[in-house]
Amino acid sequence: MNANEIESFFKHHYDSQPLMVFSPGRLNLIGEHTDYNEGFVFPAAIDKGIYAAFDKSKTPTCMVHALDLDEFMEFSLEKVTPLTRGGWKNYILGVVSEIQKRNKSLVPFNLVFGGDIPLGAGLSSSAALENAVAYGLNELMDLGFTKNEMILISQKAEHHFVGVKCGIMDQFASMFGEKNKALLLDCRNITAEPFTIDLQDHQILLVNTNVKHSLSDSAYNKRREICEKVASLLNVKALRDLKTSDLHTIKDKVSSEAYQMALYVIEENERVLKAGEAIKKNDIGELGRLLYQSHKGLQHQYKVSCEELDFLVEAAKSSSKVKGARMMGGGFGGCTINILEKDEVSSFKDQITKAYREKFNFECSIYEVKLSDGTGKYIS
Ligand code: GLA
Repeated sequence: MNANEIESFFKHHYDSQPLMVFSPGRLNLIGEHTDYNEGFVFPAAIDKGIYAAFDKSKTPTCMVHALDLDEFMEFSLEKVTPLTRGGWKNYILGVVSEIQKRNKSLVPFNLVFGGDIPLGAGLSSSAALENAVAYGLNELMDLGFTKNEMILISQKAEHHFVGVKCGIMDQFASMFGEKNKALLLDCRNITAEPFTIDLQDHQILLVNTNVKHSLSDSAYNKRREICEKVASLLNVKALRDLKTSDLHTIKDKVSSEAYQMALYVIEENERVLKAGEAIKKNDIGELGRLLYQSHKGLQHQYKVSCEELDFLVEAAKSSSKVKGARMMGGGFGGCTINILEKDEVSSFKDQITKAYREKFNFECSIYEVKLSDGTGKYIS
């Protein structure tokens, strides 16, 4: 669904010119499950995301159309509560509720949205939608929130209405993305160093497994709890504060599973910083090796991968022209990120599509993306 279709639908239905907002999805070069450990991540906004049309309503209720899904919700601002199995609706209700908690009064509004990233593909369509709503309502009703406040509203919406205790990476990347840049984000103080990404004769390719295994939300929260427990055992605020050698002292006090998870987080933080160095030196080979190491850690230590993701990463390894690949995002499905030689893209696409189909009897999807600006008004 593109911006024109969304705008036309809005005009036709509500007979007014809406405010148009674009809010992008994100990729993440490296740094997975480090954000809620107050560590480092390396995401970028992409040129695919959510388009949303907003205007104030002439009726007492709010109307929301999810055009891609052909679904609709009507709700009253007097009573905003999470819905059981609410799916996309809870992202919107959650943002509205978080705004209300900050003592801002909202007036009824109409919203039509859709986009060109699939929901649940690990490209953070949820953060894109949350940010679109926070940004759109802020503009429409002159609420006076800064972008930093908006990403916290989006994150809390996810904690309280969706039940995923996510970190800040996705909302940050979607809101603050910069064209041709990735953001080395320190999740403790929420400040980022933008890196121009010029991979010369290489490029990034995302491959979507087209699966999302259902245990992902509970497994996510469980890992966050384990990390917090290990940090408190060592009397530090977060795993970010530890070196691998610090962990040895508690080897007998935690399960080997928890030990490996904490070790993974500490090592992944180090890899993010090394990736920054590699990019500064234009060392694509080193960047690629770090991606493969990250995947190995996510697969065997942090245990958030799945058969489909592992298959795609193994398939990438079989070509020497692919410099690195790993699963991206929370895990248990979604996309892999691959860095490969430009010349190889077309044959890699063919090979991986065929191999995936033969193995799983369904299709993967492949996206070529550009690193893009973050959430803002959309001007056609
Ligand atoms: C999801 C969460 C993020 C982050 C990643 C894993 O995308 O929303 O906050 O924790 O998983 O890196």
